[in-house]
Amino acid sequence: MTEHDAHFSPLTRVVAGGRPPHEQNAPVNPPIEMTSTYYQVGPSDINTYARFTNQSWEGLEEVVADLEGASLPGLVFASGMAAIAAIQDLVPAGSTLLIPAHAYMASVTLAKTLEARGIARVIRFDIEDTDATVATLEEVAASYNLSPETVNYAAPQVLLWIESPTNPMMEVADLPVLLAAARRLGVVSAVDNTFATPLGQNPLAMGADVVVHSATKAISGHSDVLLGISVTSNEQLRAAMYAHRTTNGAIAGPFEAWLGLRGIRTLGLRVKQSSETALYLAKRLQEHSRVVAVRYPGLTTDPGYERASAQMKNFGSILAVTLDATAEQTDEVSRTMKLWTHATSLGGVESLVERRRRHRAEPVSIPESMLRLSVGIEDAEDLYQDFVQALSALEK
Ligand SMILES: Cc1ncc(COP(=O)(O)O)c(C=O)c1O
Repeated sequence: MTEHDAHFSPLTRVVAGGRPPHEQNAPVNPPIEMTSTYYQVGPSDINTYARFTNQSWEGLEEVVADLEGASLPGLVFASGMAAIAAIQDLVPAGSTLLIPAHAYMASVTLAKTLEARGIARVIRFDIEDTDATVATLEEVAASYNLSPETVNYAAPQVLLWIESPTNPMMEVADLPVLLAAARRLGVVSAVDNTFATPLGQNPLAMGADVVVHSATKAISGHSDVLLGISVTSNEQLRAAMYAHRTTNGAIAGPFEAWLGLRGIRTLGLRVKQSSETALYLAKRLQEHSRVVAVRYPGLTTDPGYERASAQMKNFGSILAVTLDATAEQTDEVSRTMKLWTHATSLGGVESLVERRRRHRAEPVSIPESMLRLSVGIEDAEDLYQDFVQALSALEK
């Protein structure tokens, strides 16, 4: 694939990209390069040692960058958190990091660590309240005298961290408005696009400076590998993240990167199936007498529906279901499920369910009886029936 093939649909590019050239006897898939070092005959260059680069990363880096609309290759990391650290760690002493009240807990923990070390002030914000968030951004930007002309992307004084939909509350941000405000004010913006996937939403086109994925989830798709990836069209930012990866050493193993590329080939089919099933389950579960609330951006009654319809290409495979139950009863419901697996993580072919408040790091604003559902590719009716039979545990 070359830039000349950009007219192909993302569904084609996710399959056709990141492959060796169509040449006689070339392998159809990129080989796994198992080496720690490279033969050197000339002057030292980038390809000297496998912490700097490994050809096994490049297919996945090319495909995700292409799907996200980045003009530069992506950067693969050992995990989503390694990719996130390579962005958050860029903030210099005296900086401010804005992160939503609800966001993946380790991303929040990392931000709090920067605060505890005296590097950054952390401001939490309500991602659904666009006006209040823009007002906060304006105030913070003014206090630093920021201007879009003088942004240091390698050391952002103010970093806006966004997740949409948020983990685990499924709130939807008004991405075009928030990202445009950040751009106008000289604030660097990062979007964790894990829940939406590169086929579901492309924040760079809406003004984000960098997009990050836990490729452990839908990109790899089989719950068998940890990986992260970041993509940007900003050379300064990419160079800083590359330097972070190289010096901190949070690099992906060649086999893991290969699994990620193999996994993403079926992303189109998996996203289509699991988002259809997620909508089916959301509609049916919200009618159940022991279900208090369902958050899924594809429900026309969801507060995020309008925003999601405008900025997402599909509504994804994750939903949040709150039961009329105590924490203990909710745990009992999870244990009673036969098809759904009670486990953390998401985005795999198998459906997972998790009561998020069992993690102490999750804030009290997340209901004790809320289950996060990651919908796989099993039969929709089987998933529904298993969920409903588990809900009968509440009647005992
Ligand atoms: C939204 C989101 N971002 C980042 C991560 C971290 O990814 P990883 O576990 O690959 O480090 C996760 C993991 O659950 C996540 O859900």
